[in-house]
Amino acid sequence: MSNKPFFYVANWKMNLHFHETVSFCAENYEQLMLLAEKEKTYLILCPTFLMIEHMQSMFRNTPISIGAQNCSEYNQGPYTGDVSAKSLMEVGCRYCIVGHSERRIHFGETNEIVAHKVSRLLENSVRPIMCIGETLQERQEGKTYDILAQQLESLCRVLIDCKVADGSKSIFFAYEPVWTIGTGVTPTYDELKQALLWIKEIVGRYNLAFRIYYLYGGSVSVDTISSLKKIEELNGVLIGSSSTDFQILRKIVLSS
Ligand code: PGA
Repeated sequence: MSNKPFFYVANWKMNLHFHETVSFCAENYEQLMLLAEKEKTYLILCPTFLMIEHMQSMFRNTPISIGAQNCSEYNQGPYTGDVSAKSLMEVGCRYCIVGHSERRIHFGETNEIVAHKVSRLLENSVRPIMCIGETLQERQEGKTYDILAQQLESLCRVLIDCKVADGSKSIFFAYEPVWTIGTGVTPTYDELKQALLWIKEIVGRYNLAFRIYYLYGGSVSVDTISSLKKIEELNGVLIGSSSTDFQILRKIVLSS
C-alpha cells in the first residue's frame, strides 16, 4: 500500500442501538484512539443521529471524527422528523453520508434530492460522503456505467454553480455497488478499478473547485481490505457490518 492518507468510514446504520453505541465507544475508547493515531489514518464514526452529540463530546479534540448517516435536503421549516445540515454542523459533526442506496431504495431519494442534500451540507461546512452505485439488475443489463454517469452528473451540474466552491471544501464520492452491500460479494480488482476510473473521468469533466476523494463500500472485510488498499484510485472505504465489531474494525484499519 502506498503511504497515502486513507479514510475509514464506519457506517453503523441502524445496526447499533443507543446503549450498544455507548458501550462500543466506552469499552473501546483507548483502542479507538490508538487506531486513529496511526499515521495517515482518518477514522470517521457514523452513528445514529441520537448519538452524534454524545460521541462528539466524547471524542472532542481527538483524531476521531463523527459523521451522520443522512440529513435533510431543506434548510429549515416544517419537515417533521428531519435533521438539518446546520444542526449537524452546530453539534460538531464533520461528515455526512448522503444518497446511500438504502435511502434511495427505502425512502425514495432521487438524484435530485441527493444533490440538494449535498448542497445543504457544503453550505454548512459538513463534508458530504455521496454514495453512488448500480443495482444487480442494472449491472446484469450492462447499465453500470450509465447509472454511475447519471448519478454523478446530476450532482456535478449543481456543484459547478455552487457558491461555496473555493477549492477548500471536500467532497467524498463513495462507490457502493448495491449488489455488494451486506452480501459478502465484492467486485474484482479490475472491475473496481475500471469503475473508479470511469467515476473519476465523469467528475473530472466538471473541473469542480473542491477537494475530491474516492471511497469504496460494500462488504469491506478483513479478507477484502488488503486488495482494496492496493487500488491507487481509492482514498478510503465505507464499512458497514464489519465496523460494528471493534476487533474486526481494528484488523481492517491495521491491515496492510
Ligand atoms: P456492508 O455495508 O459493509 O455491510 O456491506 C456497507 C454500506 O452500506 O455502506
